[in-house]
Amino acid sequence: MAQKTNDPKLTDYSVTDALALIDRRFGKDRLLRDLSTPTERLVTAYYLQSRWGYERYNPHAAMHMALSDDGKYTHDGLRAQADTVIAEARKIGARRILELGCGQAFNARVIAEALPEVEVVATDLIEAHITKANERGAHLPNFRAVRSSFTELPDDLGQFDLIFAVETLCHSPEIDAVIERIKARLAPGGTFMFHDAFRRTDWESKSDDLKEALVLNELCLAVPHGYAVWGTWEDALARAGFTDVTTEDISMQGLGTCRRLGRVGLKFLTQWKYRLLRPFVPKHLARNAVAGFLGIYIMYGGAADPASENGITRYGLIRAVGPNAA
Ligand SMILES: C[S@@+](CC[C@H](N)C(=O)[O-])C[C@H]1O[C@@H](n2cnc3c(N)ncnc32)[C@H](O)[C@@H]1O
Repeated sequence: MAQKTNDPKLTDYSVTDALALIDRRFGKDRLLRDLSTPTERLVTAYYLQSRWGYERYNPHAAMHMALSDDGKYTHDGLRAQADTVIAEARKIGARRILELGCGQAFNARVIAEALPEVEVVATDLIEAHITKANERGAHLPNFRAVRSSFTELPDDLGQFDLIFAVETLCHSPEIDAVIERIKARLAPGGTFMFHDAFRRTDWESKSDDLKEALVLNELCLAVPHGYAVWGTWEDALARAGFTDVTTEDISMQGLGTCRRLGRVGLKFLTQWKYRLLRPFVPKHLARNAVAGFLGIYIMYGGAADPASENGITRYGLIRAVGPNAA
């Protein structure tokens, strides 16, 4: 291991060193106990306790990766996912758009502002997110947020020309059931698209350390069943009658975010100031330091020589066209 300074750097830590540091600060076994917590309970506790962190991650409470081509984080990069949806909406002439798992609806609000003639409805499991989303979007007449799990999506929401999601569908292990709900709300031939993290198809052949880092990252982000394996969603969409299913691997565009969150996580794990505060920090908020620190390892194998093929996960955009009316 390289010589440590008072201000440790991500590049000082191999994945083995990173896991050892996490074990010293949090106890890996203690963290792993949450693997048996029911998903919805874990998701709700995680997001309620993490709100302070997400609101500090950026001023508009976006809760997803900023994307860029230069390996640097900027708040502007948080618009990338919404910009892709806007381009698709313009292409297909969408009149109604639905966001699943919207958080405080950063994406839906960006879209509603860019497309004032389009009705944008945002949904989320957590009432507190919906309240904040509606407060933040109160000036947008074509926007509203409604509480609904993406496993429910009631019929009275109507049908949408475009349904999208950003870093939320990973929270459900029930892929086929979620696709059926989406299909019921998608207008014939409409577009479904989502950005998310996935396990690489070769994830099982990676080192034990990387696999352990993966499980800890997933768990500390309230995904106890693990990210879906790359290709699983595509197969399920095709089985459900979706066509033109495409996947774009945009893993390298998340490097700037992983560097930023990795540095924040490392600071929290090493600096005295944060270590003294730790007993007063809610459990799931504190565990974001683990997830943030490990992101660069699971996505790129580490900070020293980051490359997508060195990681165990990918970040991608899946797009599919809904079935036409029978
Ligand atoms: C990482 S945040 C992303 C939020 C938003 N998409 C964004 O990009 O800012 C994931 C969101 O998914 C929501 N979520 C988790 N499980 C859900 C479910 N079953 N139905 C609806 N929303 C869910 C959480 O409450 C949280 O707001």
